[in-house]
Amino acid sequence: MTPKYVAPSILAADFANLESEIKMVNSSDADWLHVDVMDGVFVPNISFGMPVVQAISKHNKKVMDVHLMIVDPDRYIKTFAQLGSNNLTVHYEACTHLHRTLQAIKAEGMKAGVALNPHTPVSLLKDVINDIDQVIIMSVNPGFGGQSFIENTYKKVRELKEIILTHNASTRIEIDGGVTDANAQELINCGADVLVAGSYIFKASDPVNTIENLKKLIS
Ligand code: DX5
Ligand code: ZN
Repeated sequence: MTPKYVAPSILAADFANLESEIKMVNSSDADWLHVDVMDGVFVPNISFGMPVVQAISKHNKKVMDVHLMIVDPDRYIKTFAQLGSNNLTVHYEACTHLHRTLQAIKAEGMKAGVALNPHTPVSLLKDVINDIDQVIIMSVNPGFGGQSFIENTYKKVRELKEIILTHNASTRIEIDGGVTDANAQELINCGADVLVAGSYIFKASDPVNTIENLKKLIS
């Protein structure tokens, strides 16, 4: 079995204590640090911008997994590379020339990802699947942490896994939104590789232990 990863989402952290929150993640079994950038246009919320990503990057020792929930993401590809992003994921719904955007992300030395809103079928990625390093299947409507997991996600993960296998692609499937110990195992069984978790980790009384348990559950 390919390795399974846990990616704490910094959106659920205490922003007044970002440095210690990042150090907690550094000291844990987490594999990636998920960083949600929202522009208030593509999604009905604004999270944080470049200065905060730079501050996160300064302390982070994990793979920095940036999820752009912004319109016209092409404008900022270079900037996010300079800020230390290892993975850069754009939304399918925000890109007119997705193939070009993916190539531009790779040209900056980052892993290129595509995120799909809950209503967007995975079949739309068939013709670019070999160009995608990670697909984020949104299991909530993007914009906010702490929402409930959408059950239809399991079906989408199974369908996407089938597409990846058919095309002999090495694309990772990442799940984002409402992930807890109640759905983690089933998501992995359906073909997921990376689980993003915000509230479940950062609101726990012992986040390091919660990450460790989640990792054990899916490994
Ligand atoms: C939602 C973000 C998620 C969010 C997940 O738009 O993309 O990464 O932080 O948070 P939880 O795990 O609390 O649903
Ligand atoms: Zn996200």
